[in-house]
Parts: sequence; structure tokens; C-alpha cells
Amino acid sequence: MNESFAQDVLNGLSAKNKHLSSKYFYDDNGSRIFQEIMNMPEYYPTDAEFEILSMQSKQIINELQFSTPFNIIELGAGDGFKTFKLLDYLVKNEIEVNYIPIDISQEAIEILTKSLKERLPTLKIQPKVGDYFKILQNSKDSEYPSLLLFLGGNIGNYLEEKSIELLKLFNKNMKVGDKLLIGLDLKKNPIVVHNAYFDKHGITKRFNLNLLLRINRELDADFKIDDFDFYSYYNPVTGDVKSYIVSLREQSVEIKALNRTFNFGYNELIWTELSKKYDIDEITNLAKATNFKLNKNFLDCKHYFADSLWEKP
Ligand code: AVI
Repeated sequence: MNESFAQDVLNGLSAKNKHLSSKYFYDDNGSRIFQEIMNMPEYYPTDAEFEILSMQSKQIINELQFSTPFNIIELGAGDGFKTFKLLDYLVKNEIEVNYIPIDISQEAIEILTKSLKERLPTLKIQPKVGDYFKILQNSKDSEYPSLLLFLGGNIGNYLEEKSIELLKLFNKNMKVGDKLLIGLDLKKNPIVVHNAYFDKHGITKRFNLNLLLRINRELDADFKIDDFDFYSYYNPVTGDVKSYIVSLREQSVEIKALNRTFNFGYNELIWTELSKKYDIDEITNLAKATNFKLNKNFLDCKHYFADSLWEKP
């Protein structure tokens, strides 16, 4: 049994305001549903970041001012669809890199590696499954400069304090002069954000409820999925999208691996996810607060998303 999963579920469902962490969305099934989300027309971050990396790869690579070869370490690579454009630019221009994609999903890494070997056979690739930090520590010892990629707006899934902690930890595991290209979703027309997270196809709902299925499977529980719904809310002032699972009736659920039964009230919420949206000043402040120098923000044409290039000074 995954002990930290069990402990986090116990803490989250015992709390007065119940919560479960979105970091547990990504079992193999959840990673597949996330691919579906990224393919929805309403989920604009994928297209916006794809546009940035398609149209501005040259500018991003020039801005690095790296000697070659260099490392590109991608944290949470997923299917690597967006990164393909950047890698394609490097291969076509014979810029020598060592691409190190890291993901917690074995399946996602296998699919990515297979597709890259077919599409960019000359690219040097060293895929890794598992913990970012152990692998990052090794890159600190590398004689070559490293570009870290933390794309897709993943930083927005952390509470402010946690995001600062995480970025400081990246910083600590980088060499002076190493760079971080970090994707941040920008504040925009609230209706656009709302439609991306409260999608009419119910894919994001399935993504959330998959967490209950995971608890059923891994912790021997008896959640009845049809008795739960999904709700998501965007606050355009704070930039927070908050997502919830809603209990549709009064019910109790037994989680055998925890030796516990949890009661849910009619319409009781379980908070599952924060997806924070930023403005440019907040990005500047976040870089400063985590000891980075902001080199440049790369935005898509609609100004929906930013890939921000930071340097360890
Ligand atoms: C991975 N992360 C940046 C996504 C987001 O936009 O917060 C996860 C997601 N949740 C619902 N839709 C997408």
C-alpha cells in the first residue's frame, strides 16, 4: 500500500472541511483522462503553450545563451506533446542536447519515449520515472548547463506557500547560470477560464471522480461514484480556480485499509484542486521570492499563458 496516499486520504477526509489532493489524480487512468482534457477545445492552456513553443522556440533557445551540449530536464513530462516543438527545433538546427523527461507515470514516459524515438531518432533521451528531486540532484553534478522545464501551468496547482517551497527547492538543486522555463496560466476573461474547468462534456468531472475510484481500488473502499458530482469555481479577483467533489446525498463510505468509515452530508464538498491564474506582477514577485532572476516572459498571441524564463543568479 502507498503509505503517504493512505495518510493523506485519512487526514483529508477527517478534516472539518474535507479535502483530497489533486496530486493523486495521476494514476495511469487519471493520466489518460488528463490527456483527454488537454485535447478539449475549451482547455486553452495546451493550445496557448503549444503556440508559444511552436512560434518562439528560436527566441527561447537564444535567450538561454548556453554553450552546447546542454541538458533539458522536463519535470512532469506527460506525453511531451508541447515540448516536441522545442526539441524539433533543436534537432533541426543540430543543437546538441540531452533530453531528460521525468514523470511519475510509467505509462506516460513509455509512450513519450517511443514516440520521440520514432519522430526524432537522433535526439539523445534519458527518460526517468519517479521523484523529481533525486534526479535533479544528479543534474547539479553535470558538467553541462541545464534548462529545467516545468510546463503546463503545474505550479498553479500548489498553494502559495507550497509553490514557493517547491521553487526554492528547484533553485537549490540548480547550478549558477542554469535556467528554468516555467509555464504559468494568466488571468483572463473569467468565462474562458470557467469553461475550461467546468466543461460541458464532463471530462473534468470524470478526472475528479477517478480519485474516488482510485481510493476504492487502492484502499479497499466503497465509494459509489454516481452519488457524487463535481463543481468548479473561478474567482477572477484572486485568480483561483477551486474544484470540488460534491456528495449528492447523506452517505457513509467505508475505507477498509484505514479501518474507518467516513460520513458525507447532503451537498457536502471535498476540495480537490487549486488551479491558480497569475498576472505579470505576480510572476515577477514569485521569481524574486524564490531567488530567481526573471530573464523574459514568452506569451501566446491572446496573452492567455506565459512561459517565463528564470535564471539561477
Ligand atoms: C496539471 N494542471 C496544471 C491542470 C490545471 O489546469 O490545473 C490540471 C487540470 N485540472 C483540471 N483540468 C486540468
